[in-house]
Amino acid sequence: MNSFTYRYPVTVYFGEKAAEKNLPAELSKVGKNVMLAYGGGSVKRNGIYDELMGLLTAAGKNVTEFSGIMSNPTYAKVQEGAGIARENEIDFILAVDGGSVIDCCKVVSAQAKTDVDLWEMETVKHENPTEFIPMGAVVTAFGTGAEMNNGAVITNEEKKVKGPLWGAFYDFAILDPAYTMTMPMSQVISGAFDALSHCMETYMGTPCESNLSDEINEACQRSIIRNLRVTLKNPQDIKARSELVWAAAMGENGILKIGKVTDFQAHMLEHQLGAYTNCNHGQGLAVIHPVLYRHMLPEAAPQFARLAVNVWGVDPDGKTEGDPANAFIDALTSFIGEVSLPTTFAEMGIPADTDYKAIADSTILTGGCCKKFTKDELLAVLHECR
Ligand code: NZQ
Ligand code: ZN
Repeated sequence: MNSFTYRYPVTVYFGEKAAEKNLPAELSKVGKNVMLAYGGGSVKRNGIYDELMGLLTAAGKNVTEFSGIMSNPTYAKVQEGAGIARENEIDFILAVDGGSVIDCCKVVSAQAKTDVDLWEMETVKHENPTEFIPMGAVVTAFGTGAEMNNGAVITNEEKKVKGPLWGAFYDFAILDPAYTMTMPMSQVISGAFDALSHCMETYMGTPCESNLSDEINEACQRSIIRNLRVTLKNPQDIKARSELVWAAAMGENGILKIGKVTDFQAHMLEHQLGAYTNCNHGQGLAVIHPVLYRHMLPEAAPQFARLAVNVWGVDPDGKTEGDPANAFIDALTSFIGEVSLPTTFAEMGIPADTDYKAIADSTILTGGCCKKFTKDELLAVLHECR
């Protein structure tokens, strides 16, 4: 294990009626002017908006809405939110939806407190913001685990970069699995695959040899695979949904990363694919992962072999290491087909004339894994994904 410091600042309220039970006490600690942030309107259709608005009104808050936050949130949308927050002297932000709204508000909370351009501050000067509007998150779509960390993935349309900005941690996160029951099944599947991807990307970092973080990680992967299968058979199974919601949060709350340097090369590539195509995050990962992993096979065979046995139930008896390593990629590929995720960019509707060279060239190369990719290899991966 590498040396580590672990501190976790987010209070998690998990379970049935978590908002009703805990939001009033949390709201009593914050100022009067509250920004209620959400996406394209699912919260209005499924009744969550009315429920939260009732709790905010009962707490005597002045509510300002910040709505229309899109998937793959843009830096322009962050600026809009920061403007609304400043104009209305917002004391507290309640972000309600999936990863996109939750990420967008992390940066809004910082940008509202400074006139310095945050993109410039973080990506050019390599400084991080230090002042934030306090926030709470209500998760209505699981997958990213964004509610449990302070990284935000924001698309800068002018620069054609989808990249990380560091914002605030949420003071609390409300995870009521019942709130996720109206998610479209395609989002359930892509969210679950995103969570599985976070586990794999963490697992593929260093140290490569077996360690406690990876053993917990294996359990999370098994849970996601098993509970997605249950959910596909019975979408109303709240127990399976609860497991998925918590497994997704575990993927990004730092516990699996303890003592590790993570990989996240698939994510870096997918994020740039998103910058150029605005594609769905989990679906992009589903196409990229098996292809990228075939390229990693020679270097990553010991980890792949462990995943084959410990996650996918491959019997190692009488096999050389290369056999289960291959079996891992086969099992992952077959699972992607089983749950009806796309296997090519064409299936995702990504145009054939997409500038894959520009995507590969603008992708961050990560240093955490047993294999260091070059931009040319990433271009080869993208071409194979077409
Ligand atoms: O916009 P509305 O109408 O609300 O619809 C949303 C949206 O279409 C819908 N939805 C949410 N809850 C629902 C619901 N529909 C019905 N019933 C409900 N209960 O589902 C969609 C959610 O979209 P989005 O938030 O974009 O999805 P996701 O949670 O997958 O977030 C993706 C974003 O998170 C970033 C991705 O790159 C992408 O930008 N990520 C953030 C991470 C982080 N901060 O830790 C890690 C991830 O790797 C990821 O990169
Ligand atoms: Zn992800």
